[in-house]
Amino acid sequence: MKGIILAGGTGSRLYPLTLVASKQLQLVYDKPMVYYPFTTLIEGGIREICLISTPADLPRFKQLLGDGSRFGVKFDYREQAKPAGLAQAFLIADSFIGQDPVTLILGDNIFYGGDIFTRVFGDFKAGATIFAYHVNDPERYGVVEFDAAGKVLSIEEKPKVPKSNYAIPGLYIFDNEAIRIARGLQPSARGELEITDVIRDYLRREALRVHRLSRGFTWLDAGTSSSLHDASAYVQTINNRAGIKIGCAEEAAFQQGFISLPRLEEIIRQMPDCEYRDYLEQKVVAEAKRLPG
Ligand code: DAU
Repeated sequence: MKGIILAGGTGSRLYPLTLVASKQLQLVYDKPMVYYPFTTLIEGGIREICLISTPADLPRFKQLLGDGSRFGVKFDYREQAKPAGLAQAFLIADSFIGQDPVTLILGDNIFYGGDIFTRVFGDFKAGATIFAYHVNDPERYGVVEFDAAGKVLSIEEKPKVPKSNYAIPGLYIFDNEAIRIARGLQPSARGELEITDVIRDYLRREALRVHRLSRGFTWLDAGTSSSLHDASAYVQTINNRAGIKIGCAEEAAFQQGFISLPRLEEIIRQMPDCEYRDYLEQKVVAEAKRLPG
C-alpha cells in the first residue's frame, strides 16, 4: 500500500499566516500540522509516501521531513502547480503509485483513537474504502447517505441540503483503478477534480465500502483559524491529561518497528533540548526499556 499526503492548496482561510508558510506547516499545539496525517499513515504500516504540495511550499516540507529515513519511511515529493482538486493527486503521483493500492490523506486532517485504520489497511483487497463520521455541519464536507440497513445510497460534495449528518473524512483507500478514474474526470462547477466523483464511480460499480467511525473516535480538520485553534486545544488536553502525544511520528515509527530503539535514541540525541525530546526520552524510550520486547 502506497500513501499520499496532499498538502497543497492556497490556505486562503488561514490568511495572513499562509503568506509565509503553508497551512499544513502551521503549529497544531506542539508540532506541524502535517505530522498528524503522516503519523496516521505510519500507524497504518505505510512506508512509501508521496507528499504533494505547491512549488513554493515543497522545499519547506523537504526541510522538515527529509527523505523519511529518520522515520524509517521513504518520501517522494511532487508538485501540484495549481490546486485543481483532490483527485488530481492520482494523476500527479501515478508513477509513484505504480500498480499498487493507495491511501490518500489530506494534510489538514487529524485522526485520533483506536486502531481502525490499521485493521482496515490490513484487510483491504480491492475497490474503495472510505469512512463516515457524524458531524454537526455536514454541508462543509462530502456527505454519505445510508438506508435503514446501512447500505450507501448517495455521495455528495458539500450539498446545500445534506441527506445525512455523515461527513466523509479526508482519508481514502483505493485500488489502482483510481488512476484510471481520475484520468476520465471532468472538473466540477467549482473547477476541481472532485474526490467524491472518484468515490461515486466505485459506488456505481458496487465496489465501495464505508466504515462508520465510532463515537469514541476523533476526527478534526484544521483548515480554518477556528478549527485550527480547536485542534490545538484538543491535542493539548490529551497531552496534559493523559501524557500522550497525538501525532508523534517518531514514536509511531518506533512502535511500528520502522526504526529500532538504538536508532530512535540516536535521533533523539540530535534534537535540541525541548519538551518533544523529553517526551521521547522519558516516555517512549524509558517505557520500551522497562518493557523489553
Ligand atoms: O476534510 C474532508 C473534506 O475534504 C471532504 O469531506 C470533502 O469531500 C473534500 O472535498 C475536502 O473538502 P475541503 O473543502 O476540506 O477541501 P479543501 O479544498 O479545503 O482541501 C483539503 C486539503 O487538501 C487542504 O489541506 C488543501 C489540500 N488541497 C486541496 C485542493 C483542492 C490540495 O493540496 N490541492 C488541491 O487541489
